[in-house]
Amino acid sequence: MDKIDLFERIVIDAYSVEIAFSGSGYEYPPMYLWREIGGEAVKAGWKKLLRGRDYVYPGIYLHIPFCASKCSFCQFFSRALKDRREIDVYLDYLDKEARLYKGIFGPFAWRTLYIGGGTPSLLSLRQLDRLFSGILYKYFNFSRCIQVAFESNPGSLDAKKLKLLKEYGVNRLTIGVQSMDEKVTSACGRAQKQEDVYRAFSQARNAGIEYISVDLMIGLPGQTSESIIDTHKRVYELKPDTVHFNAFFPSPPTQFVKSGGFLTERDIAHKNKLLCLAASLQDKKPIGNDEYGLPESDFAGRNIQLVDQIRHNSAYLGLGCSASSHINRCLRYMNTDDISGYYRALDKNTCPVFLGSRIDMRDEMIFYATANLRYKGISKKLFYQLFRRRIERVFARELEILEKMKKITVDKEYILSAMDSVYEYLAYSKYFYRDELLRKLQRIYRAGGPGSHQDYLRNFCSCR
Ligand SMILES: C[S@@+](CC[C@H](N)C(=O)[O-])C[C@H]1O[C@@H](n2cnc3c(N)ncnc32)[C@H](O)[C@@H]1O
Ligand code: SF4
Repeated sequence: MDKIDLFERIVIDAYSVEIAFSGSGYEYPPMYLWREIGGEAVKAGWKKLLRGRDYVYPGIYLHIPFCASKCSFCQFFSRALKDRREIDVYLDYLDKEARLYKGIFGPFAWRTLYIGGGTPSLLSLRQLDRLFSGILYKYFNFSRCIQVAFESNPGSLDAKKLKLLKEYGVNRLTIGVQSMDEKVTSACGRAQKQEDVYRAFSQARNAGIEYISVDLMIGLPGQTSESIIDTHKRVYELKPDTVHFNAFFPSPPTQFVKSGGFLTERDIAHKNKLLCLAASLQDKKPIGNDEYGLPESDFAGRNIQLVDQIRHNSAYLGLGCSASSHINRCLRYMNTDDISGYYRALDKNTCPVFLGSRIDMRDEMIFYATANLRYKGISKKLFYQLFRRRIERVFARELEILEKMKKITVDKEYILSAMDSVYEYLAYSKYFYRDELLRKLQRIYRAGGPGSHQDYLRNFCSCR
């Protein structure tokens, strides 16, 4: 079967269900095809990469998997904290994991550090102090780091913690506000008061944190146009440097889906209407996918680690439960997402890795093309700088057909997406996939049965 027939089949399948995706949705090879891998492969991969010095803009991502309570909409790996001492134990194991890599990375200089979760701001002053000085800054070299980003939610921030974060170099703070409507947040199981947002925001400014970004959710159960307008008005009065709005995606790991929730076509239409409304309310210019910022924060105020991953195909090391990593032309992998499994692996002094996929140059180029199409578009020049190949040659067939289908536009410098929804993106970006992978996906789509993609969708996908 010719590639175009294969592709059309996939598109039809992709449209017949709203695709549930794990992880970021632009992972290549797709995460649901990853297989178990061993810690030795990870160590060998990093050593080889460092020897060859063939990487750009390396970053460290560290995951804190605890929250005050679990919000029903949240798709990230975290659970409600039962006892503060759980964090001390987790820090013991982060220390063990960091020590495993110490011998490999030595004085290697990292460009970015991103501490995400979960809710990193849940750590006490003492625990934050230990995380930075006893683990991160002890085992890794951040002397040339240009951004230390930290995720937080308003209820767990206070002036002393913010002062300490500033002292440890945090220069980008994300405050997860989600909504200023307490009816909406409390229906999602999130105990958040409007006063917390105002207080945390002014404390962060007073502490001198350079860039403050606010996360908002669009399309949460019970959210109305009035609620969105009110939230935007209140948030913009605070003058955050960037605002990121996330369309609620009911993916398999959310409590919403686990408890049988799904979005009807009407809900999806409502969500799309709210997204358009949110975009129209921006007094800032768009600087990326659903991200709005002040002109001066175009680059420095953004999540540079993410920009590096998408625009420069950077290497990154993930630390902590469920964190994922990328070793150029070698491996994409993730740590185990089960806290006791994470502890067990480290008790045996092995890397707590779980699933992964070997990757070569072609995989990297496919990842690069699909990930950049999701954001602003593919820069031909950057593609050449990274891979020493011209994108028009590497993906001649793919680009020709996507252009004919009017899903992309090609000019002298850029290949830009003309797809009008994330679902079109999820379907048409697959055209870059290798033929054999498309065939495999097609078999999985068609076969049904346990373990198949259909089964996965049937069990987990909440969009019906
Ligand atoms: C890892 S969470 C950390 C947020 C922080 N703990 C808080 O509660 O504000 C990062 C962001 O992902 C977004 N998010 C979480 N679940 C989502 C979902 N199912 N669909 C879309 N965005 C989601 C939220 O806006 C959230 O602020
Ligand atoms: S949104 Fe934040 S606080 Fe809520 S469960 Fe997710 S990570 Fe935790």
